[in-house]
Amino acid sequence: MSKIYSDKKIFMLRAKLGSRYIWKYLADELIRAHKFDRSPLKPLDVVCDITYNCNSKCLTCFRWASAPDPNELGLEDWKIVIERLKSWLGTFTITFSGGEPFLKKDMMDILRFASGKDIVVGVVSNGSLIDEALAKAISSSGIDAVCFSLNSLNPAVHNKTRGSDRSFAQVMSAIENLRGRGKTRLAICATVIRENINDLAGLAEFVASNGLDGINFQPLMEASIIRNFDKDGKSTVPPKGKLYEGLEKTNTENVDNVFEQLIAMKEKGYPINNPVKHLRYISMYLKNPDDPRLSALPCKIGPKNFLLDPFGNVRICQVMEPIGNVMAELPQKIWNSEKARKQREMIRSCNRACRLLNCNFKELDIASRVRRMMRLLKRRQK
Ligand SMILES: C[S@@+](CC[C@H](N)C(=O)[O-])C[C@H]1O[C@@H](n2cnc3c(N)ncnc32)[C@H](O)[C@@H]1O
Ligand code: SF4
Ligand code: SF4
Repeated sequence: MSKIYSDKKIFMLRAKLGSRYIWKYLADELIRAHKFDRSPLKPLDVVCDITYNCNSKCLTCFRWASAPDPNELGLEDWKIVIERLKSWLGTFTITFSGGEPFLKKDMMDILRFASGKDIVVGVVSNGSLIDEALAKAISSSGIDAVCFSLNSLNPAVHNKTRGSDRSFAQVMSAIENLRGRGKTRLAICATVIRENINDLAGLAEFVASNGLDGINFQPLMEASIIRNFDKDGKSTVPPKGKLYEGLEKTNTENVDNVFEQLIAMKEKGYPINNPVKHLRYISMYLKNPDDPRLSALPCKIGPKNFLLDPFGNVRICQVMEPIGNVMAELPQKIWNSEKARKQREMIRSCNRACRLLNCNFKELDIASRVRRMMRLLKRRQK
């Protein structure tokens, strides 16, 4: 049965989720939740790597190197998982990533099913498959947002880092196909690497001048952070590559200028989603990935992350062992399990840099959240 997704309904869901975020993040800060083995509050963000299959060959990620795995969950399995999450979490957000999510068979049905359950749904995509027909299906599916990976407005830089000569043209055409269709928010995710350090402000300018909803700057990590697993949780692709071509070779003189410019742009109202604190830490990291001030920061994912792999395995940390499987057990049981407790203990003493990834850097940025709501409200009134 098709369902009508009105702007108003999506707006109300977003607003409800936004207020739950503020409440959870404040409560977690107040009780210093990341210091405890058990989490009194439920997670609000579920990130689901729906498939490891990919049609790009990015230099920074080896997801594309894995063979298709017949053990990946299918549409009916995902419906069960989504129902279970919904009855446990109420209003929450699920972000589908991968691999390339739109390569997944029945992806649109999965998206429509989740949206139909009043879940705030997002997708991270390389944009390679979004022609007009798919754009139309996406915008009528009820999903909240698509975030496109775009590393530079210089096609040669983008294509080099994304491992495909066609990637820039494809992602720009995907943005054009979805832009102006109204309901789906569009954002950019730019992985910050040596090659694009001078292109970041231009990307923020592009987002603002084209009426897109936001940009997320993602610090480059060792490729081994984005590894692939099999259904038993074993890593299937050897973690190749240290920091891609040596982050330490970044032109460090420019880093300060670029990040001060981004912070100034954010303060002027450009839709940069990273909190200012995060931008400062990223610039510190680019200058010296081993800066002791970064490893001294607590990794706050313990009470917040709920990550699913293509087989339904659950992780809190994307590189550690799974703590359960949502097809075998209820998610709330996994969240409160002994394995989860032990893993939170390990997380507390971990000092890796990946706490700086967008999905792991868990700080409340009330001003940005309010600005995002205002932008949504303005768009509804147009
Ligand atoms: C793994 S991809 C999956 C979704 C989709 N295939 C895409 O590229 O948008 C998710 C995000 O991770 C980013 N990424 C890739 N390699 C990375 C690395 N080594 N460190 C940090 N982020 C990385 C990508 O640029 C993309 O924005
Ligand atoms: S970053 Fe995305 S598009 Fe690139 S190889 Fe990894 S999963 Fe594929
Ligand atoms: S820093 Fe956090 S996200 Fe990274 S490996 Fe350690 S526990 Fe996991």
